[in-house]
Amino acid sequence: MTTTQTDHEQAARTQTAVIVLAAGSGTRMKSATPKMLHRVCGRTMLGHALHAAAGIQPDSIVVVVGHQREQVRSAVEDLAVDLGVPVTTAVQEEQNGTGGAVASGMAALPADFSGTILVTTSDIPLLDAHTLREVVTRHDIRPRAAVTVLTSTAPDPTGYGRIVRNDDGEVLSIVEHKDASHDELAIDEVNSGIYGFDAQVLRDKLGKLSTDNSQGELYLTGIIQLARQDNGLIRGHRIEDPDLVAGVNDRVQLAALAGEMNRRLCETAMREGATIVDPGSTWVDVDVKIGRDVTILPGTHLTGSTVIGDTATIGPDTTLQDTTVGEGATVVRTHAVGASIGARAQVGPFAYLRPQADLGEGSKIGTFVEVKKSRVGAHSKVPHLTYVGDAQIGDHTNIGASSVFVNYDGVNKNRTVIGDHCRTGSDTMFIAPVTVGDGAYSGAGTVIKDDVPPGALAVSGGRQRNIDDWVIQNRPDTGSAEAALRARNDS
Ligand code: UD1
Ligand code: CA
Repeated sequence: MTTTQTDHEQAARTQTAVIVLAAGSGTRMKSATPKMLHRVCGRTMLGHALHAAAGIQPDSIVVVVGHQREQVRSAVEDLAVDLGVPVTTAVQEEQNGTGGAVASGMAALPADFSGTILVTTSDIPLLDAHTLREVVTRHDIRPRAAVTVLTSTAPDPTGYGRIVRNDDGEVLSIVEHKDASHDELAIDEVNSGIYGFDAQVLRDKLGKLSTDNSQGELYLTGIIQLARQDNGLIRGHRIEDPDLVAGVNDRVQLAALAGEMNRRLCETAMREGATIVDPGSTWVDVDVKIGRDVTILPGTHLTGSTVIGDTATIGPDTTLQDTTVGEGATVVRTHAVGASIGARAQVGPFAYLRPQADLGEGSKIGTFVEVKKSRVGAHSKVPHLTYVGDAQIGDHTNIGASSVFVNYDGVNKNRTVIGDHCRTGSDTMFIAPVTVGDGAYSGAGTVIKDDVPPGALAVSGGRQRNIDDWVIQNRPDTGSAEAALRARNDS
């Protein structure tokens, strides 16, 4: 045998394919949404499964779809783009069990594929690449196994297949909960539904599975007994942490595992140097990034692609979705979606930042202020009760309380441009499109319809008129009239 042949054989032997099962109906979720498209910490369970699969850099990934296949397939395509890896889908026409599903997946692999086939499912949200790699490593220990099954000790084994071992600890079979005897139900070692298979063994045995069980399905787990009959080596690899392989069949388990993943994400952020005052009321999505010396106060939800810069303080009671927060910023009781908050900016309490709100360094957005698709320049302030939409505000400008950027004429959205160092009075209405030059002022209650040149003071409306005794004459015998009369008599 030449060196080249040996190398070739070696390479061929170590090929790995991952088959992800996602064809089941997920009946127990009682949902119009396919089970694997339900989210855990901001990512679908299918997304978690494919992230884990892609993480071991296998030679190919196949997702088996069936129930609601169009929806699942398009989710697979989007994920493949996000992950930058090719993912094939295979259709299981009839949901006749996990054995049938794997057979459909095998059909999408080259007929001569040899090496390890890793089978996993799309309803195990905490499964990670590290755990999948462990299965491959165990499977490959010489002598290589025919089947390696990943097992755990479930705190509550209800619903899981039980691992039946002999006195020597060898795995004999897996018995489904519904098929288990009284004694077998007492076994607390359960099947995770994650396996490494020798491709040849799998190919030989899949066709020999029977439906002779309580559910009349082709159980993938039947491969174990069939492989044993051929003296194939079965390895059971029990992992310490049962949550890593815990499955979601219903919404109670969905909430429990989302809580567990969130707990782990908070723990990671704390270990990286963030203070989370109350991890129990803090929710962090899987793609969120949190810097050092950040303080997160109770009731905070950080979702999507949110990034929190070092030393920022967030919360309490704040939701930031796809929002970037700069170093040292403070965000109190705020709801923000798709916003960018500059370094050392102050936001809230009670602010609403909508997509493309772009707050400059050291700026301030105060109480009951809504900002949409607008730039607020560095060190500029919008402190109270104001709507800012489709605007560009320069640096060092102050917008008075209770102002409205009147951007909508009923048909079009129009822009307002305000310069640097402006001081606009309380209750100014900016009727867009309009431009206010650098250093300009406006009086309280001004309706700005025309451009204001740099350095000008804009005022609008006529002089105030008082009509004497109007209330006393027109609203006699009211509390107001009586109070007015008393005031007149006193003076
Ligand atoms: C399965 C295992 C069980 C294990 C448990 C771990 C079998 C027979 N049982 O049970 O031993 O403890 O997982 O979570 O394998 N699927 C298809 N096509 C089908 C049926 C299922 O693709 O025809 C997919 C589902 O979408 C799901 C996975 O296979 O992703 C598991 O199916 P599920 O019905 O949840 O199996 P369990 O009853 O949990
Ligand atoms: Ca399951």
